[in-house]
Amino acid sequence: MKLIICDDYNGVSKAAADIVAKEVNTNPECVLGLATGSTPVGMYEILADMNKAGKVDFKKVKSFNLDEYYPLSAENDQSYHYFMNENFFSKINIDKNNTHILNGMCENAEKECEQFEQLIEETGGIDLQILGIGQNGHIGFNEPNDNLCSLTHLTDLTENTIDANSRFFKSIDDVPKQALTMGIGTILKARKIIIMACGANKHDAVRALLSGLISTDMPASMLNVHTDVTLICDKEAYSNDCIGIDLGGTEIKFGVLSSDKKLVYKDSIPTDNSSEEKIVSGIANKCKEIMKKYTVSGIGVGTPGIIRNGRVTASNLPFKDTNLKEKLETAVGLPVRVSNDANCAALGEVICGAGQHIENMVMISLGTGVGGGIIAGNKIYEGTGCAGEFGHIVIEIGGRQCPCGQLGCLEQYASASALVDAAKSAAETNTDSILNKLYTEKRTMDGRIFFDAVERGCSVAKAVLDEYINYLAIGIKNIYNILDPELIVLSGGITNSDKLLLDPLKRVLGDNIKVTISKLKSDAGTIGAALLV
Ligand code: F6R
Repeated sequence: MKLIICDDYNGVSKAAADIVAKEVNTNPECVLGLATGSTPVGMYEILADMNKAGKVDFKKVKSFNLDEYYPLSAENDQSYHYFMNENFFSKINIDKNNTHILNGMCENAEKECEQFEQLIEETGGIDLQILGIGQNGHIGFNEPNDNLCSLTHLTDLTENTIDANSRFFKSIDDVPKQALTMGIGTILKARKIIIMACGANKHDAVRALLSGLISTDMPASMLNVHTDVTLICDKEAYSNDCIGIDLGGTEIKFGVLSSDKKLVYKDSIPTDNSSEEKIVSGIANKCKEIMKKYTVSGIGVGTPGIIRNGRVTASNLPFKDTNLKEKLETAVGLPVRVSNDANCAALGEVICGAGQHIENMVMISLGTGVGGGIIAGNKIYEGTGCAGEFGHIVIEIGGRQCPCGQLGCLEQYASASALVDAAKSAAETNTDSILNKLYTEKRTMDGRIFFDAVERGCSVAKAVLDEYINYLAIGIKNIYNILDPELIVLSGGITNSDKLLLDPLKRVLGDNIKVTISKLKSDAGTIGAALLV
């Protein structure tokens, strides 16, 4: 589905009128499918002005209207006959004999519908169908119903539609309870379709339409099977709030990213690692809670492990070829995208963080291991599912044993854990060092204690840091030589002390390799996951 988002109602009317005018100008004898309601009024006005100005000619155009109330006479000022005449036909040079609207006073509704359907066929079928959308997702008067009739038919109107349309009648009791309408099948036969939606009350319908999921509860969702549909909506009707999930071994972080790419919500739950089902239900419940507050159009998940077609295999989670995408879509009812967590962080960083305004970027996370994400042309490069596993580049032949089975992997030298291990053993060996003093006082070693020792001028800690930076630089140079990114972004807790780490690292790397520290820090994963949608 093509999408045109306009600032306001006028923009929507203009965009729709341009498409109609182009169709008529390309094919002056074309067949238009027309809609009523408040939405197309502006478009009809613009088309009438264009007609007056000689920019479009309706002389040979034929038209079929979507629907008409039943029973209601053409003379009634609420009939769609009356509407079309008032708002369009009387203002343009169309031949009234070429306009067709179902007869709301017909004696035999079934026959009327059959003849209407036949006439559309005989006229060559509809070239361009114009649609509005009801708050409940109806198009024409095809209401949410398990039995969506596919051709033109008589239908009962739902309370929601009667209520919404009562604004045009003196009282709600005057609104007819039935209507004649083209069916979904009739609409889908049109060669091209435009559907317009304006205002916040169309927000849910637009969201459901864009979700791509097809359901009889949402008649307009059937348009997703058509190959030439353009949705034209204003900013109020369109919402692109998305949930981003950063799935970790100890906690699952949730965020809501608004259409203007702001993180408007943040929360987390502990990871219940006991089973795949527990993780899925934990995520689904939290998403449903979030969806009570935010109208979201999709969910993105960043997870550790290898992901192929939404199926996840991860060593630190109970996922073995788990179809996480399908399981979450079934549980939550929204479209779900899944990618590797490091890839998500990289996407977040390139779109909203340190990599804004560039298109090719590499992100390297320095944590328990060394992870990575590759961004090429503002998109994640996944390879066949696990590109960017920088932690397993071998930087020392016959080097330290890595749990992956290889010897000398980068993450054995350049992860935060490797730095802390090196700091610990240096503290133990050099008993008169500042590092040893802090280690003995705190009875533990971590990045903060280590960098504290460096800042206090500890030469032992400084030597550990120099060695660490040299190893990290080898890894970065290898990555740079293969991918030549515009920027390399480093993330992870130890990068917080950027003066002590980044500046000396830059000196070792030289001027060609541009390297910086993550701007989004721990939010990069949730923001990037939301951006997958
Ligand atoms: C009108 C029609 C309806 C409307 C829909 C939205 O011919 O078929 O489906 O398009 O009810 O109406 P408005 O534009 O008034 O919100």
